[in-house]
Amino acid sequence: MRRDVVLLAVCAAVLCVCDGVTFGRLCSGNSANSRRVTDIWGNGKYGASRGSRGHEGLDIVCSDGSIVYAPFDVTLHGKLTVYSNASTKTAINRGIKLRGEGLCFKLFYVQPDQTSGSVQKGRRLGVMLPMQTVYPGITSHVHVQMCNRTDPTPYF
Ligand SMILES: *[C@@H]1O[C@H](CO)[C@@H](O)[C@H](O)[C@H]1NC(C)=O
Ligand SMILES: *[C@@H]1O[C@H](CO)[C@@H](O)[C@H](O)[C@H]1NC(C)=O
Repeated sequence: MRRDVVLLAVCAAVLCVCDGVTFGRLCSGNSANSRRVTDIWGNGKYGASRGSRGHEGLDIVCSDGSIVYAPFDVTLHGKLTVYSNASTKTAINRGIKLRGEGLCFKLFYVQPDQTSGSVQKGRRLGVMLPMQTVYPGITSHVHVQMCNRTDPTPYF
């Protein structure tokens, strides 16, 4: 093959990788970012049924108490509450808003170590909250939601 053709092919492959942002590992014990499939409480995919609404995020498997990591270099933009009426769910009613790789997204059910500044890819963001105490038998998970509520699945 001609040298310039080979170079072109290599460049195209590299551009292709750079173009699509992919989340790195979010949770210890789940290096593949495995997704929550159907359990007794529902399904973890984007758009899955949640009563009258659709599921607005993607659920990544994460055991209670696991370490949650930055999926790429991120900046932190404050803690958040998941439920407006959390009377029975206070144990898991926390999360954090982040930006990185041009994306704005939220992680639910995580107790953040810090809520401002920046965290490098693979460094610790916080701890997975005790989801089993609120939803017994669920596949415990981090809920990933884009700030504009579009589908995060293409980034996994
Ligand atoms: C919050 O939830 C509790 C338990 O489900 C319920 O009793 C209460 O009325 C709710 N409060 C509001 C303001 O919706
Ligand atoms: C939603 O946010 C994502 C990432 O932050 C961005 O790439 C996308 O263009 C946004 N879509 C709309 C419809 O605003």
